[in-house]
Amino acid sequence: MQVGIDQIGFYTPNKYVDMVDLAHARNEDPNKFLIGIGQQKMSVADQTQDAVSMGINATLRYLDHIARENVGLLIVGTESGVDQSKSASLFIKTALNLPPNVRTFEVKEACFGMTAGIMIARDYVRLHPNHSAIVIGADIARYGINTGGEVTQGAGSISVLVKADPQIMTLSAGHSAYSADINDFWRPNDSAVALVDGKYSKDVYLDFFRHTFTDYQKQTGLKASDFTALLYHLPFVKMGFKANQLAIEKQDDGTKKRLADNFAASACYSKAIGNIYTASLYLSLLSLLENAQLPANAKVGLFSYGSGAMGEFYSGQIVKNYEKAINQAADQELIARRQKLTIPEYEQIFNQALKNPQDGLKLESDEQSGTWYFAGTENHIRQYRKK
Ligand code: HMG
Repeated sequence: MQVGIDQIGFYTPNKYVDMVDLAHARNEDPNKFLIGIGQQKMSVADQTQDAVSMGINATLRYLDHIARENVGLLIVGTESGVDQSKSASLFIKTALNLPPNVRTFEVKEACFGMTAGIMIARDYVRLHPNHSAIVIGADIARYGINTGGEVTQGAGSISVLVKADPQIMTLSAGHSAYSADINDFWRPNDSAVALVDGKYSKDVYLDFFRHTFTDYQKQTGLKASDFTALLYHLPFVKMGFKANQLAIEKQDDGTKKRLADNFAASACYSKAIGNIYTASLYLSLLSLLENAQLPANAKVGLFSYGSGAMGEFYSGQIVKNYEKAINQAADQELIARRQKLTIPEYEQIFNQALKNPQDGLKLESDEQSGTWYFAGTENHIRQYRKK
């Protein structure tokens, strides 16, 4: 029996900042952001979008196509949690109207959280082949105004359905994991923005990629040339580009070209959205599926990295006719619908989103109808509504 990804849903908020505008406002050369970092735009979440609402909106993209009663597991990976105790997944479960017997919880290990969920879901479905699992990654990357990390912010969510006989990608058995207790990036409880040792984080990311990719090749006997595409967690596009350069440096020209072209296809959406932490690797997968020409049974390697730090490499195989299970036009429209913010508008929205709204204040959303949003708290209980 093959187990893997059967559906992918995607959501990003309806506002963005253009990197050229940001560069001008910060007295930087635009090419530093466009070429040096590799980003063109970043999505911005206002006060009404959080990990819960974005996770609901991503899952609603495919919910009508699945058998809701078969969902036995719902996992949310996020580092933008809305409560120290209650799982984001419980709010989401209610909005999605999932059965009461679903097992549901939230996982955290920086950007690795969604991969942890997918691995748990893969093994769960192997044991319970008649059940499926929803795994969501939803995050808002916030470093702060006028910080080095500002250009690598973003917001969005990816939701996947993991089941037997999937329509999109089968997940191979095995993985290579690597962890170490380090301080490259973290967010203390008293801070709404991440703290980061930027240059160190870039080195560690590459180091973890080397460890896990080398070990995975040893374990499986696969070589870089056996892969149609290598996908990366993309905190910013240049980071994944550097890892891909490491992977292809000793390869023949055909492999170099294939992996470089498919990397470019996998980075199209991140370039326009920015870092969405847990979901970034899976945004790369969606971008590859919708922007590359993949042969039947394409072999895909995935590198997940979460600061702190945890790295993992695993692989999957694209299923024939996967195109029928994705919706390129709708995903591209979701990105294109965003409104551009001026830098003062972005700064105002950013600062407001850091504060908890006064209890009892009802928030309104300027999203399209049908979109879920955070509507404020009543008696300190978070309220989610559909527009
Ligand atoms: P910085 O110091 O502003 O930039 O911070 P820089 O000086 O390192 O320059 C960046 C690149 O632009 C360099 O290229 C420059 O040469 C180039 P590189 O040497 O890297 O190839 N450059 C130019 N290129 C063209 N024209 C120009 C020009 N000027 C300079 N005129 C940094 C950059 C990424 C460190 C910062 O944005 C940051 O701290 N970001 C956040 C941390 C981060 O994303 N780390 C990535 C690895 S950790 C990770 O992936 C986990 C994470 O997602 C969190 C989680 O797990 O939850 C972050």
